[in-house]
Amino acid sequence: MSGRPPIAPEAVDTAVSLGGIALRNPVLTASGTFGYGTEFAPFLDLRRLGGIVSKSLTFAPRTGNLPARIAETASGMLNAIGLENVGVEVFAAEKLPALDPEVVVVASVFGTEMEHYAKVCERLDGERRVAGFEINASCPHVKAGGIEFGQKADVLADLVRTVRRATRKPVLIKLSPNVTSIAEMARVCEAEGADGISLINTLQALDVDVETRRPLLRNVLGGLSGPAIRPVALRMVYQASRAVKIPLCGIGGIESAEDAVKFLLCGATAVQVGTANYRNPAVAGEIADGIRAYAARHGFARVADLVGALDAPR
Ligand SMILES: Cc1cc2nc3c(=O)[nH]c(=O)nc-3n(C[C@H](O)[C@H](O)[C@H](O)COP(=O)(O)O)c2cc1C
Repeated sequence: MSGRPPIAPEAVDTAVSLGGIALRNPVLTASGTFGYGTEFAPFLDLRRLGGIVSKSLTFAPRTGNLPARIAETASGMLNAIGLENVGVEVFAAEKLPALDPEVVVVASVFGTEMEHYAKVCERLDGERRVAGFEINASCPHVKAGGIEFGQKADVLADLVRTVRRATRKPVLIKLSPNVTSIAEMARVCEAEGADGISLINTLQALDVDVETRRPLLRNVLGGLSGPAIRPVALRMVYQASRAVKIPLCGIGGIESAEDAVKFLLCGATAVQVGTANYRNPAVAGEIADGIRAYAARHGFARVADLVGALDAPR
């Protein structure tokens, strides 16, 4: 126990800064699990969130993989959507203006080639509604690009340098967990000028239907998400937080305020809620409220003071 006397929930300052992106609270929704935001507006007031991260945007629209491209697994799900998205022009012309002006929007960016990432960032650099970028360096189930960008330190360094040059807005790099040393990848991002790091994307995985003797997904391999990956994600956030000074955004299996607080304690400045949105489309708002309640109960006047407050032997 912290031994701090409880304070009133209204007295808690929930604001955090994620690499220069000002958030009213530390809860965002994860790329690919919350559409472009508007789909979820009937279920919760998006202004209750710290922000939303868009589906990963490519320069041209993409149709993605054929079904089956999602499947349920024990305490999680497998997906191989293949980065289906409307493309950057439709995002700017239709999706962004449809959102309440008070909603903080982080644009997730993907490209099958390095220059494609830069083109998406350049296109959105002047968009007032985009608070910053999250560079998806980690998608494990597209045929070209994706995994290579996030798995080799020198390629990741090139990617960070390329997007850094393409925009003046804050840049978060979203890392793949499918690496040997997450600390090394985090250091590469910091050295090349990233403003923050989001982690983790899905873990490369496979499941099988023994009756048909086929893989559950047509793509064979997919990405595992949900509560099953949470302890892995916590471990990686903890290790990255000891390797770099830039802020981290923790992602992986967060379903409750308690889960989110674990990530803050392990060193994340903010968190993202992904797969849990499918079970309860209002859950991210509930998690934001629950973090405030936790901070109040434990006597933390600022949610930011929970960041890295894990009481662990050094
Ligand atoms: C159906 C689905 C689609 C996803 N699409 C993207 C994407 O387009 N870009 C990206 O960076 N991450 C994508 N992700 C990964 C999530 O943003 C998140 O990193 C991952 O699911 C782990 O968090 P969770 O366990 O809370 O879902 C996707 C995940 C799912 C389940």
